[in-house]
Amino acid sequence: MTEHSDHTDQSAPAKPWGGRFQERTALSVEAFTASIHFDARLYRHDLNGSRAHAKMLARQGLISHQDGELIRQGLDEIESEIEAGRFVFRPEWEDIHMNIEKALVEKIGAPGERLHTARSRNDQIALDIRLYLREESGRLIELLLSLQRAFVRLAERHQDVIMPGYTHLQRAQPVLAAHHLLAYVEQFGRDRERLADGLKRINVMPLGAAALAGTGLPIDREFVARELGFPTVTKNSMDTVADRDFAIEFLAACTLIQLHLSRLSEELVLWASEEFSFVRLADSFCTGSSIMPQKKNPDIPELIRGKTGRVAGNLVSLITLVKGLPMTYNRDLQEDKEPIFDTVDTVSASLAIMAELLDHLEFNQERLRRCTRGGYMTATDLADYLVKRGLPFRQAHAVVGRTVAHGLSAGRELEEMSLEELRQFSPLIEDDVFAVLSARGSVNSRISTGGTAGPNVAAALKAAAAELGM
Ligand code: ARG
Repeated sequence: MTEHSDHTDQSAPAKPWGGRFQERTALSVEAFTASIHFDARLYRHDLNGSRAHAKMLARQGLISHQDGELIRQGLDEIESEIEAGRFVFRPEWEDIHMNIEKALVEKIGAPGERLHTARSRNDQIALDIRLYLREESGRLIELLLSLQRAFVRLAERHQDVIMPGYTHLQRAQPVLAAHHLLAYVEQFGRDRERLADGLKRINVMPLGAAALAGTGLPIDREFVARELGFPTVTKNSMDTVADRDFAIEFLAACTLIQLHLSRLSEELVLWASEEFSFVRLADSFCTGSSIMPQKKNPDIPELIRGKTGRVAGNLVSLITLVKGLPMTYNRDLQEDKEPIFDTVDTVSASLAIMAELLDHLEFNQERLRRCTRGGYMTATDLADYLVKRGLPFRQAHAVVGRTVAHGLSAGRELEEMSLEELRQFSPLIEDDVFAVLSARGSVNSRISTGGTAGPNVAAALKAAAAELGM
């Protein structure tokens, strides 16, 4: 025994699972296997699951009603202690499940030892994660709604502003700023749908799978499901404790949110630069440089963009974690929690601050007006004009190409050319052409469904506001 005494603590109390063991757990093993420093975060879900489980056990006659009541009171007290910061989480009890169970037994004695009847930590952790992801999906959906509303407010403040639309980061065609902003409303709307859809698969009650094969004790899984607000129970006990596909889907949905935020951030960084000068970020949402006194840096969008690597990395971590696992539960699965928690924290914080930032953003209208005049952005409009007069589009494209080449060498925009000058390239051009050569004329001609014409965008803005309950 002496050879063990330096790496085990002989005075430590035995583990709940320690019956078959001859030796105490090595301290190094305890430190390596403990998860309490991160899964303590699941305490509320663990307690809710245990309360529902105990109530079911009492209803089924598996424990007495009196014991059921003592367990409930004990769990309530533990909850108050945790919330008051008075509860001591102990690494020697490994995880949140055993920390709570141990505390319960310390509190109420023998009845506490009946709580784990017909239950394993394998189905218990599956329950805790599902409860956690259900709650967090709901919170993220709310944060997405708030962000979408911030976009709509920003678009409403800039209803008539026209700006250059880009492809390949080259000026392409003029668009309404509101149209550009509503593009993001669509993206974050799909993100919301994805989370809501994932909830269908998260919101299934796993308890009762026990370790992997179910239980011989007469439990009532449907009752537990009703107690915890789950519409259904899982159908196969082995699948129940083995898979985390619902969590992978959740991290994938979160990764898409963060990708959308990242692309938005990239635009904000560009737009706030001297070179673009499209927007002004409020001072309160920027930071300065410790060496260059003139600097005003867009750190918020930069950090959101930077955090995208973590979120995508967490998704890859979880996928890789599950990849080689045989049925059913494997301890590897304990490693699912940190990526999940980190993603929830990162995405929540990013969504919240981005919504705030948008409320502190103004477009530089004068600058945008100047930018929509240059760059031959109404060249497609001139081609469409010729198409309406019967010219095949490919020929129209070539005609306008020559007109632009002429403009470039003469230093004139299309709308700055005279009718005579334009007619050198096609006799089909008449003096009504100038209506389509202005940025406003171009924008308003784009009346196809989903196009940027003023009335389209006004209707889309109204529909978005209504959908978002504004
Ligand atoms: N802490 C574990 C986890 O997060 C709980 C389940 C442990 N089960 C077991 N048989 N060791 O996955």
